[in-house]
Amino acid sequence: PDTITVQELANRMAERGADLVKSLFKMGMPVTINQSIDQDTAELLVEEFGHNITRVSDSDVEIDTAADVDASETLLPRPPVVTIMGHVDHGKTSLLDALRGTDVVAGEAGGITQHIGAYQVTVKSGEKITFLDTPGHEAFTEMRQRGANVTDIVILVVAADDGLKPQTIEAINHTRAAGVPMIVAINKIDKSGANAQKVREELLQHNVQVEAMSGDVQDVEVSALKKTGLDELVEKILLQAELLELKANPDRDAEGTVIEAKLDKGRGPVATVLVRRGTLRVGDIFVVGGESGKVRAMVNDKGQQIKEAGPSLPVEVLGLSGTPGAGDPLSVVENEARAREVAAYRQQLATDKRTTHAPANLESMFSALK
Ligand code: GTP
Ligand code: MG
Repeated sequence: PDTITVQELANRMAERGADLVKSLFKMGMPVTINQSIDQDTAELLVEEFGHNITRVSDSDVEIDTAADVDASETLLPRPPVVTIMGHVDHGKTSLLDALRGTDVVAGEAGGITQHIGAYQVTVKSGEKITFLDTPGHEAFTEMRQRGANVTDIVILVVAADDGLKPQTIEAINHTRAAGVPMIVAINKIDKSGANAQKVREELLQHNVQVEAMSGDVQDVEVSALKKTGLDELVEKILLQAELLELKANPDRDAEGTVIEAKLDKGRGPVATVLVRRGTLRVGDIFVVGGESGKVRAMVNDKGQQIKEAGPSLPVEVLGLSGTPGAGDPLSVVENEARAREVAAYRQQLATDKRTTHAPANLESMFSALK
């Protein structure tokens, strides 16, 4: 019978392999990402996954993205999505800035940049890496709870002169719970009080065993300030990404995830969207969370207007009916009527949820008063 590896199926569903592994585990099938499953199990998983993760109701209005499986031959490699996490002031932003400085293309273009919370860097070898500005632990947890896992790899930043701190430990736990591979960047190695070995020992106490301690978690000493160790860090990211075999179908209607959204005074509602699969184009009609829209313009992290965006590219999207939430899914649909139908359905669902909860609360309030 036909078999498929978990990662290959994940690529075909535009989901993360780690999430499929978790789903299989819950179904009583402990397998690893590179193991093969048979066709019946794959079908069962697709069904389970749709219900568990995207919480698709039995309504035929809703879009069931998990059930929309791409054919293997349509899959092409996509850049890894890397989130930088760590304790306050340990140098997350500085490291991201330093890594963006390694972008050969941005360098050539004159490096006009703007903050959209997500960046794509083209490294020397020509490969691309998407970096997400740390969304804060709350946002990360929220997105994870909503099944909006977009991160393929986490870079854990630890300041070598400060060691493990509460938020470092939180980040380790979040990363574990999300099943995401981690690379430790021991930062501020230039400082006089820096002690990388102490950091490695502290990590071990929290069951993170880096290579130097004969474990399998990659670690690298860096200085975001002096820009040292960056090439090695990039190499490790690419190595980790290769192991994950990340792929997506670029040639279909786009699906993406909202990283952040805001109401811009001049431009109206603007969402930073990470494309998961397909290619998003100017003029596309879409539904995003409980909002709908038509792509009026797209702006990349270099402030340039672009006409299309493929898998793993973060873009600012203009032309939304309202402001969606972080983690909301975006799906391109065939026409405006369909977009409005799905958006209205989702808004109704959200309203129903609020009103069904209210009387229960009132009731308990009254009974408490009696
Ligand atoms: P939050 O976003 O507030 O959590 O901080 P962060 O983790 O983004 O840290 P940020 O990059 O803002 O850096 C905090 C301070 O550490 C700044 O003053 C940086 O200049 C300094 N810093 C960052 N990296 C290095 C480094 O490699 N060496 C030295 N000496 N200082 C650094
Ligand atoms: Mg910062």
